[in-house]
Amino acid sequence: MCGIVGYIGKRDAYPVLIKGLKRLEYRGYDSAGVALISNSGELHVYKAKGKVSDLEQFVADKDVSGNIGIAHTRWATHGEPNSTNAHPHISSSGNLSIIHNGIIENYSTIKRQLQDKGVEFKSETDTEVLVQLIEYVQSSQQVDLLTAVRLALREVIGAYAFALLDKNNPDQIIAARQSSPLVIGVGKDEFFLGSDASPIIEYTDRVVYLDNQDIAVITRGKEEVEFCNFNNERLEHEVQTVELNLGQIEKGGFPHFMLKEIFEQPRCLQDSMRGRVNIDVNHVVLSAVIDYRRQLINARRFIIVACGTSWHAGLIGKQLIECLCQIPVEVEYASEFRYSNPVIDSRDVVIAISQSGETADTLAAIELAKSRGAFIYGMCNAVGSSIARATHTGSYLHVGPEIGVASTKAFTGQVTVLTMLALAIGKARGTINNADYEKVVSELSKIPEKQTKLLECNDHVRDIARIFTYARNFIYLGRGYNYPVALEGALKLKEISYIHAEGYPAAEMKHGPIALIDDEMPVVVVATQNVLYDKVMSNIQELKARHARVIAIVTEGDTRVKDLADEYVEVPQTIECLEPLLSTIPLQLLAYHIAVCKRKDVDQPRNLAKSVTVE
Ligand code: F6R
Repeated sequence: MCGIVGYIGKRDAYPVLIKGLKRLEYRGYDSAGVALISNSGELHVYKAKGKVSDLEQFVADKDVSGNIGIAHTRWATHGEPNSTNAHPHISSSGNLSIIHNGIIENYSTIKRQLQDKGVEFKSETDTEVLVQLIEYVQSSQQVDLLTAVRLALREVIGAYAFALLDKNNPDQIIAARQSSPLVIGVGKDEFFLGSDASPIIEYTDRVVYLDNQDIAVITRGKEEVEFCNFNNERLEHEVQTVELNLGQIEKGGFPHFMLKEIFEQPRCLQDSMRGRVNIDVNHVVLSAVIDYRRQLINARRFIIVACGTSWHAGLIGKQLIECLCQIPVEVEYASEFRYSNPVIDSRDVVIAISQSGETADTLAAIELAKSRGAFIYGMCNAVGSSIARATHTGSYLHVGPEIGVASTKAFTGQVTVLTMLALAIGKARGTINNADYEKVVSELSKIPEKQTKLLECNDHVRDIARIFTYARNFIYLGRGYNYPVALEGALKLKEISYIHAEGYPAAEMKHGPIALIDDEMPVVVVATQNVLYDKVMSNIQELKARHARVIAIVTEGDTRVKDLADEYVEVPQTIECLEPLLSTIPLQLLAYHIAVCKRKDVDQPRNLAKSVTVE
């Protein structure tokens, strides 16, 4: 969480920084700030509570000259969102300014020690401790800034990606990383910094991803960035080419990123399957399953670790892998797994699912599993992300950048990759017969086309949303493969419309939640025609007997559920294990349109951030 940007070169830094902050705003939007060293050598720091646009307004009549600067958009952890706690933070002398993403775990100990030595603090943040500590080391030990950074970081426990400006050296930015992402863009006579590549790609596609414990010294006029570690050993990093284009990170005519990303799903799934699903011979190839065949097909057990929406995809993955590969699967919240004492060893394969590839809990779960000898398979969207780099192997989603805070296309991308993985392993193990294998592969390849058709329901779902905007609570029900879909539908509604919603397996209703049902309770039921269809029909009858308002997701041509439901949306027919790739879409649209009707900030819902890099 929190987005950081930096620039040093010949351009005016301010426009580059503001544009960069807007691209990173999905990471947090409680407050924003910028520090610039002007052409006359002044350090100007401007901060505002709220979004980047609030900062822009605040800065409108200020001096924003200078071609070196750093900027930050915040998701508050320590201290409430206000302009004092906003970054950049300044050292006591006023010479150093810092922006930081992460958490300094031992900040209160260090703060007390510095206060005992007379250092005064202005904010409640952990970040201010970092800049004060660096300055204290610099002045008390009479060392240069880089040495002070190295020595200070030895005292610091926690996660950080930071960038540091020194008013007395307007030709240099020092940056460092531990567990929070940081990318440097290498242009001609200029350098860019970002929490990801999105603020950089407009200017250069040449980037360097920092590793943990890297310190980068970025100096004007040099061709390369210099890297060292805490022990002052020089490090070499390869400059990589980033494959991201501007179109992918802009709204493309849609009013919100979320709607754009919902509509992108057919193309995203095609991209995800490209080169992996061969429809001529109905075959799936995943390079990881070829390269690590022994570990994957002989796994005693799979353990899926993930958070939020990715965890919901994991629940679908469990059903797919158990069904097609006959290997037991456990699905764990990464945040719980990391503090458990799991019985796990080298015969286990951990699948870590993460859109951002930066989720702190998932990263910690991976480290724990690794330390116990497990083989780690990553499923990330963000290329080069921390999780992608921490795993032994993996498969990228290839659905393009997801910017709306509510995850949509990444979810269906995750389910697609999990399906391909289950097919590839099942085939290699001989646990799926050829006819079934070919049927699933063939049907998977048709999903994008079916999604395109399904998206025509958008206006109809918008009309349904208008009817239910009043609701204060919602229940979502599904069974089998559609139970995680119900959980996901409820999460989408909660996070962007702030309506309380619960997802349940439909048959669990009678064990308690049915007491909630009355004529004001909308219940969304995924009631597609699969083996559990008749059971779900009975569940709907139980609901209607108690006057619930039922919104049903039904298979095209269905008549029985339609007759019972108050509202319905039809989805194309497919085989059961692929239903989530279709049944999820009307639920994404329903959440979206309800949030729009309620005039909520769809792409940047309150209290949330896209990338959860704190635990
Ligand atoms: C919900 C949502 C979150 C994320 C969760 C994990 O729409 O986006 O629940 O799914 O924070 O994030 P990743 O997948 O980046 O690890």
